[in-house]
Amino acid sequence: DWTPASFAEETITQLKKTIGDKHVIMALSGGVDSTVAATLISHAIGDRLHGIFVDNGVLRKGEFEQVLETYKSIGLNVKGINAKELFYKELAGKTDPEAKRKVIGKLFIDVFHEEALKIKEASFLGQGTIYPDVIESVSVHGPSVTIKSHHNVGGLPDIMNLQLIEPLRSLFKDEVRRVGLELGIPRDMINRHPFPGPGLAIRILGEVTEEKAKLLQEADYYYIKALKEKGHYDEVWQAGAILLPVKSVGVMGDERTYEYTLALRAVTSVDGMTADWSHLPYEFLADVSNEIINNVRGINRVVYDISSKPPATIEWE
Ligand code: XMP
Repeated sequence: DWTPASFAEETITQLKKTIGDKHVIMALSGGVDSTVAATLISHAIGDRLHGIFVDNGVLRKGEFEQVLETYKSIGLNVKGINAKELFYKELAGKTDPEAKRKVIGKLFIDVFHEEALKIKEASFLGQGTIYPDVIESVSVHGPSVTIKSHHNVGGLPDIMNLQLIEPLRSLFKDEVRRVGLELGIPRDMINRHPFPGPGLAIRILGEVTEEKAKLLQEADYYYIKALKEKGHYDEVWQAGAILLPVKSVGVMGDERTYEYTLALRAVTSVDGMTADWSHLPYEFLADVSNEIINNVRGINRVVYDISSKPPATIEWE
């Protein structure tokens, strides 16, 4: 019978055999799949796994530091690369969602490639591919962008002459989570919502700038914090804030304001293919709205997205 413990044990034995005394490089995203895959590989070969985690400037507030800290606590050998400025520079002037995705995907591969070249001993490329990724080869965003575009360092294995290692290829998400818990990965990490590879860049409608990224990071921080504190985080499948390119008039004290509008999104879903908007309590929405408007300078209006997928999508871009 399949158990997380037997899967982990057999996989680690198999990985030891396959990898031998060679080295593995791997892009880590802070997500569940790549973390669990890396942990299995690390149990097999220790620090001969070389993880690379890139700060693309459109992660959540504090995420880069927190995720690196968690990796350290699990014992993973991971290098964090701060490439924020590079991403902001290339994103400047880009407003089309797919153009933004392409910039981020390409830069990610460039940064990863540069780092990977420094690890001369590497013979394998680890990836957190899970079973639904294997069968879902067609994207909802058109043929050029797969759902996992961020993780998909396509082409690289060939250029660098690397062999792929995908220990989770046969597992569904819930099985990956169970294996992760079995391996002692913190529950917070295992229960994280999915987060798109292009990150907050596709939640800042229109052009992405460093200032807007910081603004959205702040607002999103209050939203996610409230969801966790009020016990709603685990009830929703995914949640996030979206910075709209819309300014509206507000009032603060005796002053008239003219600032950005923020949309909050939370959905229930099984696999992200269809989704319903989460019926979060009015009280909760009222409190979060106040908290954000009172604490985040630059946003004076908060709205809640009540559209389901289809015909809407989860992300706004
Ligand atoms: P949509 O917006 O199509 O999103 O309903 C479905 C799921 O996919 C995620 N998503 C992405 N993930 N790169 C990713 O890695 C992307 O370009 C991308 N676009 C959407 C989205 O967050 C949701 O979980």
